[in-house]
Amino acid sequence: QTERTLILVKPDGVRRGLAGEILRRVEAKGYTLVAVELRTADDALLGAHYAEHEGKPFLAPLVDFMKSGPVLAVVAEGQRVIEGFRTLAGATDPTVAPPGTIRGDLGRDWGLKVIQNLVHGSDSVESAQREIGLWFPSL
Ligand code: CMP
Repeated sequence: QTERTLILVKPDGVRRGLAGEILRRVEAKGYTLVAVELRTADDALLGAHYAEHEGKPFLAPLVDFMKSGPVLAVVAEGQRVIEGFRTLAGATDPTVAPPGTIRGDLGRDWGLKVIQNLVHGSDSVESAQREIGLWFPSL
C-alpha cells in the first residue's frame, strides 16, 4: 500500500543550493512529489514538529537552526517511501553516513552545536501522518 512521508530540506541545504539536487534524488529514486513548498518555519510549527525531542539539550539550538532560513517542505509518495527516504538520507551524522546517501555525499561536520544534516524524513507511518498534518494541513 502506498505511503506518504514528510521530507524537509533544512536551512543548510537551501542555503547551500542543494534543494534541487536533493529533490532530484527523490524523483530519480522513483517517488512521486505530492507537495513542495519553500517556507520559513516559526516556533509554534517547530515546537510541534520536534515535540519528541522536548528536554533534549540540542532542542533549542535545533529550533534556532531550523528558523535560520527557509526550509523546503516536501510530501513524497510511494510504496515504502518512509523507509526508502531514510535510506536515501543516510545516518543522522553526515560524517559516518555512507557515500551514496544525501548526507554522506553532501554533508559534513561543521563543528556546530547542532548537527546540520541537510534533510529530515519522517520515521514511521504515525509520525508521517502527524508531520504532514502540521506542515500541510490541507493535505
Ligand atoms: P533529525 O534526525 O532530522 O531530527 C533531529 C535533529 O536534531 C537531527 O536530525 C540533528 O539535526 C539534530 N541532532 C540529533 N541528535 C543530535 C545531537 N546529539 N547533537 C546535536 N544535534 C543533534
